[in-house]
Amino acid sequence: MDGKRKQPHDEPETTGEPHEARGSSGAKMQSHEPSDPERRWNELYAEPVDFKELSLRDAAFAAVVKGRDVNFNDPKAVQALTKALLKRDFGLCLETPDDRLCPPVANRHNYILWLKKLLDSTCYEPRSAGVLGLDIGTGASCIYPLLGCTQRPWSFIATDIDPKSLEFAERNVKRNGLEAKIKVVPRQPTDKLIPLDDLGIDAIDFCMTNPPFYTSDEQMRKSAEAKDRPPSTACTGAAVEMVTTGGEVGFVKRIIEESLEMKHRVGWYTSMVGFLASVIAIVEELRTHGIHNYAVTEFVQGNKTRRWAVGWSFRTMRPAQAIARGSASATLRAYLPPVSEADVARLELGGSISKTANGIRDAIGELDLMHWVWDQQKMQGTGRAADNVWNRAWRRKKKKMEMDGETIDVRERQDAAFGFEVWIRVGKHEMVVGCRWLEGHDAKLFESFQGFLTSAAKAQGSLLKVHNNKPKC
Ligand SMILES: C[S@@+](CC[C@H](N)C(=O)[O-])C[C@H]1O[C@@H](n2cnc3c(N)ncnc32)[C@H](O)[C@@H]1O
Repeated sequence: MDGKRKQPHDEPETTGEPHEARGSSGAKMQSHEPSDPERRWNELYAEPVDFKELSLRDAAFAAVVKGRDVNFNDPKAVQALTKALLKRDFGLCLETPDDRLCPPVANRHNYILWLKKLLDSTCYEPRSAGVLGLDIGTGASCIYPLLGCTQRPWSFIATDIDPKSLEFAERNVKRNGLEAKIKVVPRQPTDKLIPLDDLGIDAIDFCMTNPPFYTSDEQMRKSAEAKDRPPSTACTGAAVEMVTTGGEVGFVKRIIEESLEMKHRVGWYTSMVGFLASVIAIVEELRTHGIHNYAVTEFVQGNKTRRWAVGWSFRTMRPAQAIARGSASATLRAYLPPVSEADVARLELGGSISKTANGIRDAIGELDLMHWVWDQQKMQGTGRAADNVWNRAWRRKKKKMEMDGETIDVRERQDAAFGFEVWIRVGKHEMVVGCRWLEGHDAKLFESFQGFLTSAAKAQGSLLKVHNNKPKC
């Protein structure tokens, strides 16, 4: 393997499945355009790290790099690389013991990036402060809280069961002056993984974890022998970090069990996993418990390293499709959550664009919505509905109530059955009308809303194509 391109990592290499491009179907907008600092974070490790350039900035790293090559068999070299990247890219200072995991920065950063998008795409207004997260098994590096707090005004609870890791995690928080933001909390192996009640905390925005992967020392050893991880990677993980009852699936199942009790008290429950088979087992478990608002993604770093993350929520906001269906793996296709974004119609570019857009805007505006706002400039809008207010049954119900002298003021309602985003994209030869399922648990409402939107679009212009509106799984 080419030393220039390789990124270090600590965990099991996974399937024999061929690499597939990341991303989900559908040309879709993000509801929140990334700001410039966010763009910088998003692009940070889009290209392989230039070790030569890094060595010119960092004397400790320069001492371990040979030209453009790093020896990933050498734990000292791996540590020097992690420290140099954290310093250069995040202004963070790290101290790690020789006998604990040294986190590969790009992979850990990928998880934080996904989490940010997951949170941003599941709220109408992104919160600028007050976001509280939990990192279960923070390790000696305390890497996720450090990365998270550097990029966003977040706070963290960081737990672990390993005294040595806890001691170093505490030190790493202090040396970066983040004591006010990160609380390191010791736990026992049999304690609850989500310690909200023990800490007297009502609710948090998310939890995250990179769980121990293996079921036993034996599995860990066999995995290494079978070269189930890259042979050239220095792995400094201690057994407490790498082995747990039931492996990573067992660990995540414990979180699912706890989530069934805690439900809305945690906005998003998430975990990274190192095996493709674990994603399948976790999604099956979620479905068994009737949890259908979930997200699956894949982190690809370099040529070989793949990891996955799964998140689920009992709240009603649904993530953007690229976040929820973030894997193009054929094996995972049947395990992804339902499609939540769709282009419903393509219209010929004929008359006035704004007239057509206004017609669609008004058709939606005439519905009995709890909320509807349209951005003329961007040609996109957001709405919330208390019910299936675009179908005939609703109109009949409303008419009857009016005849009976009753009024329904949908704007008074707090809970929406369905939230949506509608957009119009203008291309060279056509206008594309599409929508996203933003809120609610009922896939049928999204399906029928697409039917309504297709008709509204059809009424405005010459239709080139109606898309298949059936949400696919
Ligand atoms: C694979 S390591 C991840 C460390 C770090 N988060 C990272 O990504 O580099 C798993 C961590 O989980 C911790 N751990 C294992 N069981 C735990 C439990 N029941 N509660 C909290 N942490 C636990 C281990 O001590 C270890 O630090």
